Amino acid sequence: MRALVTGGAGFIGSNLVKHLCDGGHEVVVIDDLSSSGRSEIDPRAKLVVGDVGDRELVEKLLDKKDVVFHLAALGIISISLEKPEEAFRNNLMNGVRLLEAMRKKGVNKIVYSSSSSIYGEPKRNPVQEDDSKEPINPYGASKYTFEAALSAYAHSFGIGAIALRYFNVYGPGDEQKPVTRAVPSWIQWALTGDTVWIHWGGQQVKDYIYVDDVCRANIVAANSKLKGFHAYNVGGGVGRKMLDIAMTIKKIIGKDLKIVDKGARPGDPDTLVADISKITKELGWKPEVDLETGLKKTIEYYKERLKK
Ligand SMILES: NC(=O)c1ccc[n+]([C@@H]2O[C@H](COP(=O)([O-])OP(=O)(O)OC[C@H]3O[C@@H](n4cnc5c(N)ncnc54)[C@H](O)[C@@H]3O)[C@@H](O)[C@H]2O)c1
Repeated sequence: MRALVTGGAGFIGSNLVKHLCDGGHEVVVIDDLSSSGRSEIDPRAKLVVGDVGDRELVEKLLDKKDVVFHLAALGIISISLEKPEEAFRNNLMNGVRLLEAMRKKGVNKIVYSSSSSIYGEPKRNPVQEDDSKEPINPYGASKYTFEAALSAYAHSFGIGAIALRYFNVYGPGDEQKPVTRAVPSWIQWALTGDTVWIHWGGQQVKDYIYVDDVCRANIVAANSKLKGFHAYNVGGGVGRKMLDIAMTIKKIIGKDLKIVDKGARPGDPDTLVADISKITKELGWKPEVDLETGLKKTIEYYKERLKK
C-alpha cells in the first residue's frame, strides 16, 4: 500500500512506519516535530516536516495514496487541561482538514489512532465499544469528537474509517516531550536511580499494550475490506495495578526503587480495562507480546539510550 502517516515521527508512529517499511509498503510521513523529540525516522520512509492543518501541503502528500494512518495529535492530558482550545484545534479541526483533503484527492481509507480516554470513567470494566462515552478531559473529548467526524465522513462521503481506541501503549521509541507516561518515566528513573513517582498509591487498574501489537492492529485495519465507520478497542484485555507494573520493572532491572506517592492526578480514571473481543472476532487481531517480555524490550531500549 502507499500510505501517508501523520505523526509518524512520534512514539507509535515511528514504530508503525518501521512495520510498514518492513512489509514493503511505500510511506510518507507528515510531522511537525512538536512532541516527539525525534527528527529522524526509518530511512526507507520520507519525512516531511509540516502541520496536518496545512491543507495545501497535505493535498500534495496525498497524491497517489491508498490510505492515511492518522496519529498526529496533542496527546498529553495535562496540556489539554491547560489549553483545551489547542486540543480541539489540533485533534478535531486539523483532523477535519485532513478529511477534506482526502475527499478532494479521492483517498478513501483512514485508520485513526483514537483513545480509551473517550470513555471517561467507564460504567463497567472491561469496557466495550458501545458503552457510554463521557470524556473527563479535553483530550478525551477531542479524540471522541473526531470519531464523530469520521462517522459523518463515512456516511456522507463514503470514506472508510476505522478508529482504533488504544489503551496504555508502551514500548521502545517513546521519546515524548515532556515525558508524562508512567512506563517510560518509571524505567528511566529506575535506571538512573531517581525517585519513582506514582499516583493514587499505585492502586489504579490500567490496561497495557505493547507498541508492536498496536502497529499490527493498524496494518490489519488498513488491509480489511470494511466499509463505513468502525471502532475497536486495542488493549491487552487485562487490568493491572500500576504498583504491580512498577514492581515488575523493579524485578527486571534488579535494583531497589525509591517509590514515592504523589497522590491524586486530575482527569485520570480509576480503572480502565479493554474488552477486546470485537477486534479479535471481526479483524482477527489479538495481542501477542506479554507484559514481562514487552517491559524487558522497553528497558533494553532505555538502557541503550542512556549510554549515548
Ligand atoms: N501512547 C499512548 O499510550 C496512546 C494511547 C491512546 C491514544 N494514543 C494516540 O496515538 C497517537 C500517537 O500517540 P504517540 O504516543 O505516538 O504520541 P507522540 O506525541 O509521540 O506522537 C504524536 C506525533 O504527532 C506529531 N504532531 C502533533 N500535532 C501535529 C500536527 N498538527 N501536525 C503534524 N504532526 C503533529 C508530534 O510531533 C508527534 O511526533 C495520538 O493520536 C494519541 O492520541 C496514544
